[in-house]
Amino acid sequence: MPSLLFRNARLLTLALPGQTGPRRGKALRELGVLPHGEVLVADGKIAAVAEKVDAPADAELIDAAGRVLMPGFVDCHTHACWAGDRLDEWEKKLNGVPYLDILKAGGGIYATVRAVREATQKQLAASLRERLTEMLRGGTTTVEVKSGYGLNTEAELKMLRAIRRAASDWSGTVVATALLGHATEGDVEDYSRMVTKEMLAEVSREFPDIAVDAFCEKEAWTVEACVRFFEKARKHHPIRVHTDQFNSLGMIPEAIRLHARSVDHLEAASKNDLTALAESNTFGVVLPCTGLHTDQRFAKAGFFADRGGALALATNCNPGSSPTHSMPLAIALAVRFCGLLPAEAIVAATYNPAQLLGLTDRGSIEVGKRADLLLLRHKDERQLAYELGGNPVDVVVCGGARVQ
Ligand code: NIG
Repeated sequence: MPSLLFRNARLLTLALPGQTGPRRGKALRELGVLPHGEVLVADGKIAAVAEKVDAPADAELIDAAGRVLMPGFVDCHTHACWAGDRLDEWEKKLNGVPYLDILKAGGGIYATVRAVREATQKQLAASLRERLTEMLRGGTTTVEVKSGYGLNTEAELKMLRAIRRAASDWSGTVVATALLGHATEGDVEDYSRMVTKEMLAEVSREFPDIAVDAFCEKEAWTVEACVRFFEKARKHHPIRVHTDQFNSLGMIPEAIRLHARSVDHLEAASKNDLTALAESNTFGVVLPCTGLHTDQRFAKAGFFADRGGALALATNCNPGSSPTHSMPLAIALAVRFCGLLPAEAIVAATYNPAQLLGLTDRGSIEVGKRADLLLLRHKDERQLAYELGGNPVDVVVCGGARVQ
């Protein structure tokens, strides 16, 4: 792979020497700007970062002409593996039928479960692969993808294998999560006991390091079912939880107690719970594209950030509540509706989610880190938050190779 040299760039290094772990408080606003910098990429990694760097004579030169060079986006919460569509129910939603009513009537997540069960592993992998290609164009170089539309062991494993297959020839990085508690088949108590006893063991056997997830909500899993499942799962797996999307049922304190890696959604979270979460080691993940598409409710991410919370921002790409894979859109909405500053949204879309996913080799432009880089069309990074609906990304470098 030839070396690459970026010249004349406004560098957002996100480097804070000596700091480890997630960025919180003031550090969440630090972009580590080098106004006129150069970056040398060699062997898939960042080889040099400075105002002037020495480069081999055969390095491919990219003149940034003063534009912003920054780390690739890390989208840490998606349901990007699915089949079918939800256009009919979207029309119902436009006519005022709430998300949870559609779910209660057997639509929503269940509609996608039916389509996923009918699809082959190959079809699931192919459609996910198309979405991954689109994500890369928008600057997403690392993405988390959940299962959760299987609802039985066979179909959950089919989804996880499809995710692995789609990831295998993509130049970015896919981190799979086993969302084994997304909804229920029949009584939630019986179903969650089956998942905890049987499905978890099967998934653990084939995917021993995978994170597991559940949706704590009316019409989905109760706090008790989640706690029982996570108490068992956390012996071998990192745990994540969807909670406080529509209702605050008391899952946040339990997630903190269980040392969950993250709690995701938080639109309905109380200030007390957000404060407790901010003081813990658990990440808060906010998903503002969901508010835009579903019901115009947004998490108080600024409040959480101001209390020192470990914050991440993601698209929640899925066919029901957030049909988008655009991290720039998530940034633009987080700044408008969640109370974040553009710089906070940028750190929450790059460095912090990489930490959440346990990928400490990326998320900043520092020597030795994986070269996942974006050259924007813009000279001012605030344009990322300002522009709506366009693609601000010009050049994408992934694992050291120019892919766009
Ligand atoms: O995070 N809320 C639960 N899961 C997804 C929605 C999935 C769907 O509607 O298909 C979410 O919003």
